[in-house]
Amino acid sequence: MRIAIGADHAGYVLKDALQAAFPEVEWTDCGTDGLASCDYPDFAFAVARAVALGEVDAGLLVCGTGVGMSLAANRVPGIRAACCSEPYTARLARDHNDANVLCLGSRVIGEGVAEDIVRVWLETPYSGGERHQRRLDKIAAAEAGGAGR
Ligand code: RB5
Repeated sequence: MRIAIGADHAGYVLKDALQAAFPEVEWTDCGTDGLASCDYPDFAFAVARAVALGEVDAGLLVCGTGVGMSLAANRVPGIRAACCSEPYTARLARDHNDANVLCLGSRVIGEGVAEDIVRVWLETPYSGGERHQRRLDKIAAAEAGGAGR
């Protein structure tokens, strides 16, 4: 599996730890590459674009809470980014929501929980159930038409 990974300064250490923890994944590291303060949208967009263009199978983003990364990634058409702090949400984000980007908060969870979340997320396929697809189609239609305008 090819995964694009990105983080800001708050997620940098966990980003590297996760790449080491899952050597079977073909990682594309979109940065950041150090602890210097930086802006999470830059990395969210780099990872989201790689996913949307089909250059990788999925994306993984880490910031302090996971929230900023998910807000930014979800602005890219075709991206379904889920911010998860425990494995149950990560499993359902795949099974029901076909989430193609996982966002984690390094200040919310520890490395062990993060690894459990990533493992579950990697192992869980989208169930493709009719009701789930109908709902995802509504999100895609809203994205295409500009929901709320
Ligand atoms: C950086 O301090 C922090 O705001 C960022 O990592 C993230 O938590 C934003 O959502």
